[in-house]
Amino acid sequence: IYPVARALKEKGNRVISLIEGRSKFLLYWLDRLETVSDRLLVSTKDRSIGDNGYCSGLVKDLLAAGEPVDRVIAIGCTFMMSEMAEATRPSAVKTVVSLNPIMIDATGMCGACRVSVGGETKFACVDGPDFDAHRIDWDLLLARRKAYLGPETDSAEK
Ligand code: FES
Repeated sequence: IYPVARALKEKGNRVISLIEGRSKFLLYWLDRLETVSDRLLVSTKDRSIGDNGYCSGLVKDLLAAGEPVDRVIAIGCTFMMSEMAEATRPSAVKTVVSLNPIMIDATGMCGACRVSVGGETKFACVDGPDFDAHRIDWDLLLARRKAYLGPETDSAEK
């Protein structure tokens, strides 16, 4: 998200950066992000830095406080991005997410990264990865992300 924030700032935008993680030691480049942000809000699950919350909650709070937000760009795990889509849907703030479905060839040939956007099938590797968060079939994407969960769990346990 850092190069995105930097580019937006260079173009004269007001940038509010929200970062979340399980703990402070998992977060990095906060100093760099701070240099390109008008505000930097951090949350960690263990409260080692910032509040205990999620970026989707922080966005809801900003919108409820009347903060003018023209666009939200969310990059991270699929669940967080789906939550962000729901956080901004009521206010219809344009929300762009960078999808990370399972990919195999990343050339548009295998179909592994198939996602449904506005009822149309898209391949995240060649059509994305950025898409309108409010048009994504999140249930399908979250289910497809778990396609190899059983074998992966077995392998990790062995
Ligand atoms: Fe194979 Fe996208 S990863 S089509």
